[in-house]
Amino acid sequence: MEALLCKRLGDPASASASASASASASASVGNNSESSPSPIEIIRNHPIPELDSPTAVRVKVKATSLNYANYLQILGKYQEKPPLPFIPGSDYAGTVDAVGPSVTKFKVGDPVCSFAALGSFASFIVQDQSLLFGLPKGCDLVAAAALPVAFGTSHVALVHRANLTSSQVLLVLGAAGGVGVSAVQIGKVCGAVVIAVARGAEKVQFLKSLGVDHVVDLSNQNLTASVKEFLKSRNLKGVDVLYDPVGGKLTKEAMKLLNWGAQILVIGFASGEIPVIPANITLVKNWTVHGLYWGSYRIHRPAVLEDSIRELLSWMQKGLITIHISHTYSLSEAHLAFSAIKDRKAIGKVMIAFDDKGRSKL
Ligand SMILES: NC(=O)c1ccc[n+]([C@@H]2O[C@H](COP(=O)([O-])OP(=O)(O)OC[C@H]3O[C@@H](n4cnc5c(N)ncnc54)[C@H](OP(=O)(O)O)[C@@H]3O)[C@@H](O)[C@H]2O)c1
Repeated sequence: MEALLCKRLGDPASASASASASASASASVGNNSESSPSPIEIIRNHPIPELDSPTAVRVKVKATSLNYANYLQILGKYQEKPPLPFIPGSDYAGTVDAVGPSVTKFKVGDPVCSFAALGSFASFIVQDQSLLFGLPKGCDLVAAAALPVAFGTSHVALVHRANLTSSQVLLVLGAAGGVGVSAVQIGKVCGAVVIAVARGAEKVQFLKSLGVDHVVDLSNQNLTASVKEFLKSRNLKGVDVLYDPVGGKLTKEAMKLLNWGAQILVIGFASGEIPVIPANITLVKNWTVHGLYWGSYRIHRPAVLEDSIRELLSWMQKGLITIHISHTYSLSEAHLAFSAIKDRKAIGKVMIAFDDKGRSKL
């Protein structure tokens, strides 16, 4: 099978990764040069994973999504550091290819989506039936592959943790990115007043098309001034829920906009800078700070996570949420997919699709 292997830590978006990824595309594992400067290699004849238990299911992957965490993991900067070599990748969708003798929930050919700690950057993956979600026949598998991590994170954060309601103001940083777009949409489903923060005209235009109440363009606007003017125009006092996948200086600035009793959802640090949330101000203002590591819900609260994905799939079917994909690449173009993330070109999700001929910008 085709698989992307991370053989060493480094930048998968680097120019040399591009040359190596395509040069090794036709090579076997044994022929791939250890001297390649690229951390990633495409292996054409990687062994197809075997069913490893009576309830295991093998899925033929149609598409897998790129998450910022996948990029950080190959750089060696993510909290989970698997031993080398590893196949990266977390969320995916595809069709059931083989089932163990005790599998009751799925049969060969069923469309499914799921997420794994590792391994979805490959044309086949094996997981237990309990970890898979059935999809309606005819469901867009590329879209379904984009849903679990990004929408799952925002749903658990906003619905389960923050209990976002229609009387509240939600401020979403990094709003045009993978988790940001999902947070904006879930905010609208909850009926909240949604303020989105992004950089550049294309992202702002896109966010306006989602029906957000206000967009701040950081390329030419000041966050505090722009949000305060908007709140005043709506006779609103401040922000009730801050959704923060960016961190750094932006978090510090956003804290100036928070109401008494506000909630801060610490999602990630795309800026590369971990912000300080002062405990004294948290006390005085009665803030609640939620650290949220979505993947760990599978270990500690699996039912929350499963209910959340089911609800999201039903919202997707009803058209309440839409998956936005700005770039789709083949596996051998993975370096370009990582570049789209690194260079902040992604609007919504960046995907890797199998069987796709060449690159496309949807
Ligand atoms: N806690 C969890 O369980 C969980 C789950 C999923 C993701 N995350 C984290 O959430 C963060 C965002 O993930 P994502 O998949 O949404 O990433 P993404 O699609 O690349 O979006 C990140 C956004 O952050 C903004 N940004 C600001 N400064 C940046 C910088 N220096 N470099 C790159 N982006 C910058 C960019 O918006 P502008 O260009 O418009 O400023 C970009 O759209 C990551 O840190 C990721 O690890 C956490």
